[in-house]
Amino acid sequence: MYENDILRTVESILRQHTPRLDASEIEKFVSDFLTRREIFLKICEVHGSPVYVIERAVLGERLKQFTGAFRRELSDIRVYYAVKSNNHPLMAGILVKLGAGLDVSSGLELKMGLETGAEDIVFSGPGKTQDELSLAVANSDRVTVLMDSFSELDRLQDIAERAGVLVRAGIRVNTKAHGIWRKFGIPLSDLSRFFDEAQSRSNIRTCGIQSHVSWNMNPDRQTEFINALGNTLAGLSVQHRSRIEFIDLGGGFWPSQGEWLQEAGTCEGALRNAIIPQHDQPLVHFKRPAVGIERFASAIGSAVREHIFPYVSCRICFEPGRWLCNDAMHLLMTVMDKKENDLLITDAGMNAVGWERFETDFFPVINLSRPDISEHKALVMGSLCTPHDVWGYGYFGSGIEPGNILLIPDQGAYTYSLRQNFIKPLPCVVCLGSETDNSAIVAVE
Ligand SMILES: Cc1ncc(COP(=O)(O)O)c(C=O)c1O
Repeated sequence: MYENDILRTVESILRQHTPRLDASEIEKFVSDFLTRREIFLKICEVHGSPVYVIERAVLGERLKQFTGAFRRELSDIRVYYAVKSNNHPLMAGILVKLGAGLDVSSGLELKMGLETGAEDIVFSGPGKTQDELSLAVANSDRVTVLMDSFSELDRLQDIAERAGVLVRAGIRVNTKAHGIWRKFGIPLSDLSRFFDEAQSRSNIRTCGIQSHVSWNMNPDRQTEFINALGNTLAGLSVQHRSRIEFIDLGGGFWPSQGEWLQEAGTCEGALRNAIIPQHDQPLVHFKRPAVGIERFASAIGSAVREHIFPYVSCRICFEPGRWLCNDAMHLLMTVMDKKENDLLITDAGMNAVGWERFETDFFPVINLSRPDISEHKALVMGSLCTPHDVWGYGYFGSGIEPGNILLIPDQGAYTYSLRQNFIKPLPCVVCLGSETDNSAIVAVE
């Protein structure tokens, strides 16, 4: 019976067809980068290779677009950049200067966030240490602690009492009450009890609620949570409700270009690979579509007006990471060796992104030295002593030779933060654009 269920499921997965990524969409994407190829070539000429490139203007534009979309729906909002998505201090620094707050998840991130001069930081995450809580308490004029458990409430009270300060705090609530997601926050059903307990902690002002739902291609799961939160708020006492000054809905917004995948990154491709391992990847690309930020904002805005505002009139906060930084960092590298016509080795390895990303995700490998929008099959690999060091199974260009400069665009999210000190040195970092000049090329630490 059990085996039959598995076989039926396997069959249905193998019959799935993740949509193909349209060739014209890739062509447009590649062409846009090729029109700026001289700038990227100049960066390598001056700063060497490999190199991470931060695009200041792109980051600023994303913040404006995100904030604008939600402000059209909800008058009182605040955007906190999720530092974990790209922890280069300049990314946080640029966004803070443009008016964003920061969402940090560790003492390390908090220290860096404070150094950017940020005035408004939320500190979330499970298992905060005494040192981390003490740093938050020492900066209580700039930091809101998003408490993750009943025991953290007690530990925060002890530290704040000893320091003689009043700490602003919120409560992290759980959006999935099962499996590995149980590790975050408290269940919604415990919210009333938490407010009761927090009332007697004289050094903590509990004035908000936080949640986060990851990896959303559309707003459905976020609005489902808002609905559930509304039901919980309806059952809270008027006194508890009156304490709520903010509701923080977290991040998890997928960029509008959707998720671009290799065949092995689709469910059907992964299963096929598990059953009969493939040594060769075809030059086909797939796409899980995502909606634009305006669609997220309009659905979340209506859900908040319908389910939250009847009970609590408060500020709505967001913690986008990926959506803001994904397109604001790229990688440049050089072809070091051409071992065969279809086997190239570059001077950058997977330690620059921290995981074997491109075996499942697709991003075009663009040959800036021989520009062309046609894609050719070839294994483009890094120089680490591991075969799981793949940049792509093809390249866009009119050929490829040692010394050519390659661009892997849109590597801003969950790559730089995950970089590893493994075998080879890490790329240096260069910022395209200064505060006063969008075309300036500035080396950064
Ligand atoms: C609490 C919290 N907020 C915000 C984020 C940022 O998510 P994303 O980068 O998907 O927007 C995360 C990511 O894990 C998170 O855990």
